[in-house]
Amino acid sequence: MNVWTAFMGADGNPSARGYRSAVPAIATVNQKGGVGKTTVALGLASAAAHAGIRVLVIDLDPQANATSGLGVWQPEVTVDAALEADQPGVLAKVVTPAGWTVDAPGVVPDVAASTPALASREPQLANDPIGAQDRLQLALDGVAADYELVIIDCPPSLGLLTINGLFAADRALVVTEPGAWASDGVEQILRTVSRIAARRGDGALTVAGIAVNRLGRTRDARYWYEQLVDTYGDHVLPPIQQRAAVPEAAAQSVPIHGLGPRAGAAEAAAEFDLLLRSVLPERFADVDEPPAVESVPDEPAPEEATS
Ligand SMILES: Nc1ncnc2c1ncn2[C@@H]1O[C@H](COP(=O)(O)OP(=O)(O)OP(=O)(O)O)[C@@H](O)[C@H]1O
Ligand SMILES: [Mg+2]
Repeated sequence: MNVWTAFMGADGNPSARGYRSAVPAIATVNQKGGVGKTTVALGLASAAAHAGIRVLVIDLDPQANATSGLGVWQPEVTVDAALEADQPGVLAKVVTPAGWTVDAPGVVPDVAASTPALASREPQLANDPIGAQDRLQLALDGVAADYELVIIDCPPSLGLLTINGLFAADRALVVTEPGAWASDGVEQILRTVSRIAARRGDGALTVAGIAVNRLGRTRDARYWYEQLVDTYGDHVLPPIQQRAAVPEAAAQSVPIHGLGPRAGAAEAAAEFDLLLRSVLPERFADVDEPPAVESVPDEPAPEEATS
């Protein structure tokens, strides 16, 4: 029995999981670096914004990649101040609109921006004698009600910032690449999620699924992807393919849905639409499935390119 089955039980589809919080809050997590947590957070924010869903993105990573991907530069106040303040609802004071352009009926996301200074907040939080794992949850108190979705981009560690993200979220989205030993990394983060879920009580935190990002056409990628499917079955969500358009959108600080006629952009946007439906099933319960997504990545496999 893997950690998932021990934690979630045998039932599995997201709609059966009984999410119960008033405003869904999804944390993108994996202690492994560079797997696509921020990319998935931005892609989901883009999909939500373009579907007219009011979304707040909280950047909990001192690298601040989500902040710059959302077009926010040198913010005056950041999530660091909210974590320091330790007051209910204080996050409202640090929220700023993203620099994205989103045509109606879409809505521009709000951002609780990050800063490199957040790196020194973590050791300070660790010195709080009454524990500091729920500072973000407290800061979000009453603020989430202004939104229909909160997305929390976590750093590549299992430290107090990620733990704060998991205390503030009602669902953890484990992001992984289909690379060597991906299942081991997933197993480790699931164990952490499981411990926090137990601490928070029945149903407060659940696992939305495993988002496999950067799926390419190499035999290696397919092999590790299949390993994940063998281990986690239906909990493996519709994948995001490797496409040059994805980092391009982030580098230009534009939403993938607004990148224009760049090759692969529409396909990537459609993949994030599908992923959003999987992690937010209650929102799309009455909406028809979109047409199937073209599943071929735009970069050829090295072994195919050379043969
Ligand atoms: N589907 C994709 N196709 C092509 N490139 C991608 C894709 N997803 C992510 N990348 C690129 O891979 C790199 C790592 O992605 P990202 O920053 O989202 O990972 P991360 O898990 O947030 O990293 P960290 O752990 O450092 O926070 C980035 O340069 C990103 O643009
Ligand atoms: Mg990141």
